[in-house]
Amino acid sequence: MQDKDGVETSFEEYPNQLELSRLFEKLGVSDSELLAKEIRHFTEEEAEKRDQILINYFGEEGVNRIVNKIIEFFSSPPELPPDADVLDVGAGTGFFTLKVAEKFPKACFYAMDITPAMLLSLVRKNTNVKPFVGVAENIEGSIREARTHFNIPLKFDAVFSTLMLHHIVQPEKVFESIKKVLKQDGKAIIIDLCEHSFEEFRREMGDIHLGFNLEEVCKMARKSFSNVEVNTMPGIGCKCSGRSVELFVAYMQNSP
Ligand SMILES: C[S@@+](CC[C@H](N)C(=O)[O-])C[C@H]1O[C@@H](n2cnc3c(N)ncnc32)[C@H](O)[C@@H]1O
Repeated sequence: MQDKDGVETSFEEYPNQLELSRLFEKLGVSDSELLAKEIRHFTEEEAEKRDQILINYFGEEGVNRIVNKIIEFFSSPPELPPDADVLDVGAGTGFFTLKVAEKFPKACFYAMDITPAMLLSLVRKNTNVKPFVGVAENIEGSIREARTHFNIPLKFDAVFSTLMLHHIVQPEKVFESIKKVLKQDGKAIIIDLCEHSFEEFRREMGDIHLGFNLEEVCKMARKSFSNVEVNTMPGIGCKCSGRSVELFVAYMQNSP
């Protein structure tokens, strides 16, 4: 990656230079202990094997359905400009980021996540996607901090997020945070888990919320966006050890 002065910076060195506790403070993270626990979980349990975990959850067909939902939305009017700036929030190892990016070869894709180890797995894939560390509840502030290292736009044509929302202490903040970095007419899509009763997911997967009901998602989204649609994704489930959880998809548009 290049920093804003055009100097080449290695992403491998960047997380080492970051003091996460100071970053949390600057970005106003409300529960830094819980976030540190999340980071530990993803570093130790998922960074090396997230891609395989996703295949196990959804199978190739389910993965393609998720990817196609995002691509269809971005391709529907108002279509993204060919040179769009697109942000994946809570991108993890970039599994979905890369699959969506393949369909928009002239667009510039950015991957933000709070767990450096997840982003390092993405960096090792040697792609054009630009990673940076940040928190979903304050994307604007995260970009401001990351811009001291890298050249990242302040606003995006499109934002997406997959399977991150149920890891966020105050998920309503994520909608507001996305709204702030969307251009006029920009669009956002969030795919996550519907409400379920598998309490053990908190321990096994570091989940904070046992999914969401659709009304709850609508309510959170409408606080920041006037143009909102939330649906379940029939025929696809997140399957794990005999348990299956439905997904929802929330579409949001930033009307002028
Ligand atoms: C279940 S993984 C999903 C990763 C990726 N989107 C995917 O679909 O594979 C959740 C991701 O959210 C990140 N995360 C958790 N809390 C976050 C926060 N407050 N801000 C940004 N990322 C966060 C974790 O580090 C992890 O990479």
